[in-house]
Amino acid sequence: MTAQVRYDVTDGVALIRISNPPVNALSQAIRQGLIDAFEKADADDDIGAIVLMADGKTFPAGADVREFGRPRAAPILSDVCARIEACTKPVLAAIHGHALGGGFELALACHYRIALHDATMGLPEVNLGVLPGGGGTQRVPRIVGANAALEMMVTGKPISADKAAAMGLIEKVIHKNLERAALASARNMIAQSTPPRPTCDRREGFDDPIQFSEAIKSWRARVAGNFVPSLRCIVDCVEAALLLPFEAGIALERQCFDDCETGPQATALRHAFFAERRAAKVPELEGAQLRDVSTIGVVGAGTMGVGIAISCLDAGFPVTLVERDDDGLTRGIARIKDNYEKSVGKGRIDQSTANDRLSRLNGTTDMGRLSDVDLVIEAVFEDETVKRDVFQHLDKVLRPGAILATNTSYLDIDALAATISRPEDVVGYHFFSPAHIMKLLEIVVGEKTHRDVVATGFALAKKLRKVPVRAGVADGFIGNRVLAAYRLAADFMLEDGASPAQIDAAMRAYGFPLGPYQVLDMAGLDISWARRKRLAATRDPDDRYVAIGDRMCEEGWFGQKSGRGYYVHGHGLGPVENQDALAIVEDERRKKNITPRHFEADEIQQRCLNAMANEGARLLQEGVALRPSDIDVVLLYGYGFPRFRGGPMMAADQRGLLAVKNALLSYQPEEPKFWAPSPLFDELIKNGRHFSDLNGD
Ligand code: NAI
Repeated sequence: MTAQVRYDVTDGVALIRISNPPVNALSQAIRQGLIDAFEKADADDDIGAIVLMADGKTFPAGADVREFGRPRAAPILSDVCARIEACTKPVLAAIHGHALGGGFELALACHYRIALHDATMGLPEVNLGVLPGGGGTQRVPRIVGANAALEMMVTGKPISADKAAAMGLIEKVIHKNLERAALASARNMIAQSTPPRPTCDRREGFDDPIQFSEAIKSWRARVAGNFVPSLRCIVDCVEAALLLPFEAGIALERQCFDDCETGPQATALRHAFFAERRAAKVPELEGAQLRDVSTIGVVGAGTMGVGIAISCLDAGFPVTLVERDDDGLTRGIARIKDNYEKSVGKGRIDQSTANDRLSRLNGTTDMGRLSDVDLVIEAVFEDETVKRDVFQHLDKVLRPGAILATNTSYLDIDALAATISRPEDVVGYHFFSPAHIMKLLEIVVGEKTHRDVVATGFALAKKLRKVPVRAGVADGFIGNRVLAAYRLAADFMLEDGASPAQIDAAMRAYGFPLGPYQVLDMAGLDISWARRKRLAATRDPDDRYVAIGDRMCEEGWFGQKSGRGYYVHGHGLGPVENQDALAIVEDERRKKNITPRHFEADEIQQRCLNAMANEGARLLQEGVALRPSDIDVVLLYGYGFPRFRGGPMMAADQRGLLAVKNALLSYQPEEPKFWAPSPLFDELIKNGRHFSDLNGD
């Protein structure tokens, strides 16, 4: 036995407890300890039943993350599960908290299961590009059939204790004192000579083999073509549960697990998992004192202000929403109400929750009403003068120590901070649209921003259930800078011969939900037009400038909101290429004497990805991004970069930095400045390093 697995005996019941805080992860020591404990209980004639539980806040919530992607030291989880299942005495799992992944598989190997009413259970391995590897693919379908088993494993979504009971995955839901209930059940089993019930021998899920096979067929069609191979493996393994002996199914599951775990998708998904956690660690947290944030003000009730206010209300804050006039305020409040009505309508929240949230909202046109709030998030027009006026007004009104956050997309936060008396209280909170849904929050740290303000931003992000990433001051911070490079690479190809639909299709084929021109149409072409106009004065006249977007905006084609952009919208047939936009493209080619050439999808993808990685490298060199993985998190959570690719920096590592640099060099004659490889490539390549070596853990 090990210190993390405890063994006690009461009334002939062996109580085996896992104790590995914080989440009772199934480390090697736990696995070995469990084998020893079950051996001991099984061999002891005085033991009539065995209970498996966990200390602390949860039943094991999964594998040990430190073992991800590495060979597991014996015994592996499926050996532990096989040992438990083979016990000659009934084994009862008593579940509380979140029995996830390997934790739930451990419970499935027990003969009986009970769970506390608020427990959840699930097999989310697919989110890390793998599949249940402790027998889950073989045991769940034996109990619940193919359809419910695949629903659980393919979606990776956890289920409640009540649902698990309804499905037959657990025998009973317990409302209080789980240990007492578990011991009582075990004593009962002894009294009634309840036999062991190995899940591997159960067949309820196979009762209707035709239905089983049909479910396999339909899920196979659903996952066909998905980029993550473990989805297809899950379907194969569940099918094997019906067709093959249990041991052969387990062997297939193991083979699939090993193949998937070492593949590029699982590697990228693990990277994304760790990158998100790493992003929350920033130097300012050290020695910082969190400021109290109990009340929040939001200035500007447009697209972003409304979303930000909803996000804060959802997190339990009272919110004072300020608009410049009554009309704007009425519109903003109506949109917030509408959001909650829809949420109630769709059953996401109940009416009393909606009422509670709305009761914490105060609307006003008087900035003076912000005098006692702890934090203000400004989301007025993206205009330096307007923002400066608002900041100067806030400076007069806010209490000392209150935080002034701006949601600006591009503007210089240091310049804004310099116009008021308390630049140390100024920070950027760059939300993404729709702000109450999108998870990313760039926390932009200005030259004078106090570390307490930064740390408070990270703490607030957690309360708002956002994924915060630290960014330095730069035009577009991390995300919009990389996005601008991506779009420019696309625009060059557009001018050189590719069509918007072709570029969009290539990027969708890489895994983006939408291509760059679809996103432009959705977000509004006028936003990037405004930025280009702002930067026009400082643009180098020798830089290649693609005027197609400007000419479309001059026609009033702003994308979806105006019915036309790169596509024509709103005729009920889905987006259709805008032939008039294509005529502008051709006209621009003629003006520049460009003979259009053909682009294969692979070249489109490579050029876009190389441009993004190069811009990321520049951001690292400029100190705007702390680490490559932060850039990945921004692109994954804010821009639809496919998670199974890990982000642009991870994807560059996977393509090989030398290959990326050489590709950049090969494009460089076309546009010397834009395609010049960042010196960081050489620095890393000559030392045999990757971007991931700069992540610092
Ligand atoms: P919007 O035009 O929808 O809303 C701006 C609102 O601010 C309007 O309702 C306007 O009446 C109000 N306003 C203007 N001056 C004001 C003042 N002095 N006092 C109070 N309210 C005032 O603009 P949107 O899209 O919500 O953008 C707001 C900010 O968020 C901008 O800085 C933008 O760059 C940034 N942002 C926008 C994103 C987007 O996707 N729309 C994404 C991330 C940031």
